[in-house]
Amino acid sequence: MNKNLGSLYKPVQYLGAKTRTLDAIISECHRLYKKESYVVDLFSGSSLVSQALYLNKMPVIANDVMRFCSDMSACLLNIAKTNDSQSLLKEAIKGVSTCQIDSEFFEPFKEYIDNEERLIRTKDLHGLKNLYSQLPIMSNETIEPSRQVKYIREHIGKEAFNGAPLITNYYSGSYFGIMQSIRLDAIRCYIEKNFIENGDFWVHTALLTALYSTLSTIVHSAGKHFAQPICITDIDKNKITNIRLFENRSYDVDLLFVGFLKEILAKTGKQKTLQPCVSSCNNVQDKCFANLLEDKNISVIYADPPYTAQQYSRFYHVPEVVRFYKYPQLQQHRGHITQGLYPDGKFKSDFCSKTKAKDAFRTIFELVKKIQCSFVLSYSESKKDATGNERMVTRNDILSIAEKYLPNYKSKQLRFDFDYRQLNSSAKIVHDKEDKEFLIIFEKK
Ligand SMILES: C[S@@+](CC[C@H](N)C(=O)[O-])C[C@H]1O[C@@H](n2cnc3c(N)ncnc32)[C@H](O)[C@@H]1O
Repeated sequence: MNKNLGSLYKPVQYLGAKTRTLDAIISECHRLYKKESYVVDLFSGSSLVSQALYLNKMPVIANDVMRFCSDMSACLLNIAKTNDSQSLLKEAIKGVSTCQIDSEFFEPFKEYIDNEERLIRTKDLHGLKNLYSQLPIMSNETIEPSRQVKYIREHIGKEAFNGAPLITNYYSGSYFGIMQSIRLDAIRCYIEKNFIENGDFWVHTALLTALYSTLSTIVHSAGKHFAQPICITDIDKNKITNIRLFENRSYDVDLLFVGFLKEILAKTGKQKTLQPCVSSCNNVQDKCFANLLEDKNISVIYADPPYTAQQYSRFYHVPEVVRFYKYPQLQQHRGHITQGLYPDGKFKSDFCSKTKAKDAFRTIFELVKKIQCSFVLSYSESKKDATGNERMVTRNDILSIAEKYLPNYKSKQLRFDFDYRQLNSSAKIVHDKEDKEFLIIFEKK
């Protein structure tokens, strides 16, 4: 038990990833697991829990409402991997350095890229700030729209594979550098072309996962999520955010991407699926998700839902947009594009709403009741609610819902004390508080 965890691949820096309680989660799931059945990871996020279950020989159904999360679990659970997949991926790696975006789209950015390279090399913050403020991209409301921006405005919602580079036109000069964005666009298009040519689902998810790892490594933001890029507000070279800016902008996208692919190959190389794992991308409250579980033999459901008002779709909108690669309409606030460059119409989870969370939990308990399986639930409690993030449901709320739905079950709670990273709006870590994490386990009497 709890073997092979050295083979875990941490694809992205993910808020709330269950690294610290992983051992206990796996032990409990293993204790409750019945041979030849599935464990369901309802909110799989970074896929760490799903991977650990799988490495401990428990077939997994991983689910998350965000598509990039389900790509990561599909890759790391070796879903749809064929005998050819490894060699196809090795072949794909060879083509990375030569993939390019169309020169028609590259040309207008060429001069900016040369300047950016020089300014990063000479650590010229003032020059960089100036350069980024002049970039002809979607969020620049102070200049005449470029041809590419005009094209994008006429193609909102359409795929960007043959058009103006999406990442460059939305996120360059903020979350990523200009050259970095051009390379990210070239790689994103290459991934799709590769999929059209060989149709290998696993290779596709492996390439996407390595791309998400690259985005997560180079992004210039607090906490390596995508809630807001850090702006250059002063030109003090010793300021930590400015030191980080140069570090983040100095990453070579191609090198990182290929490095992550090699790591994925090395970690997943010899793994075999015992029973086909499943990776789904559903809102757990949707009927189609309940239908998906209907004919499966499930012994344990594990759930790690969000507990605060902070929506994951806001913190991780960039990998999600990069996944779908359709020009998003940018959200406006008081007539201006938001600093986070959020797309319109992000998914809003009921688990993050004070008025809807209890009902959302009822749907989960309804699922457990229907399947009559064991249920393992992660819960985190903020010690000082005033300084941290208020929880949408309390532990007592959950226990009283459970009492109603699962009268034939007994429950126990495991408690862990940690310093917990806060998902608060200014994305700062609140140091003076400890959060308590719990594992609440429901099993039949
Ligand atoms: C706390 S995170 C899970 C972290 C994960 N256990 C890990 O170790 O990385 C919660 C996840 O729930 C997902 N989520 C939120 N609402 C959802 C819903 N209604 N249906 C499915 N997934 C949802 C979010 O996208 C997020 O990835």
